[in-house]
Amino acid sequence: MPRQILTQTKTAAATQAAQHQDAIEILMDDHRAVEKLFDAFEKAGDDDLDAKTTLVRRACEELTVHAMIEEELLYPAAQKALDADDRPDVEEAYVEHFLVKVLIDKFTTLRAGEAGFDATFKVMSEMVRHHIEEEESELFPKLRKSGADLNELGTRMMRRKEELESKIPKDAGDNTMRLH
Ligand SMILES: [Fe+2]
Repeated sequence: MPRQILTQTKTAAATQAAQHQDAIEILMDDHRAVEKLFDAFEKAGDDDLDAKTTLVRRACEELTVHAMIEEELLYPAAQKALDADDRPDVEEAYVEHFLVKVLIDKFTTLRAGEAGFDATFKVMSEMVRHHIEEEESELFPKLRKSGADLNELGTRMMRRKEELESKIPKDAGDNTMRLH
């Protein structure tokens, strides 16, 4: 199960590039990919430390790249395009990203099987699921209505995403966070 999911998420960037998706479609595909990793972790056997290690590593990689393209490209575009009343949605999103990154950082030293590993990932997945829900129900629909050029933004996002993904070593191990 985990291996199949890893293959699916690894091909997501190639599919997105080929389909010329707009910015929101790209981000929603990323959301679905990371949710699959969370689901797989929940189903992984308690003692299957290899699967847990791999799933957490992939989720941290996905989330790191995703957070970077949102912060570098989507959020600044949203702050320009949205009405002043809607800008607090973007500010909340930055704060939520900050908290998720604090938890991602814990996995540079925390190992599967150690106390706190499962709990940290559980709390992280709950925070990310909440963040996804807010983006998809509030921020993305408002941005779609705003008239921002989401195709042009999508092209820039894909370019940056591919650049960041190419920096992740095949066996990233502890190097996931060295993207920063
Ligand atoms: Fe986000």
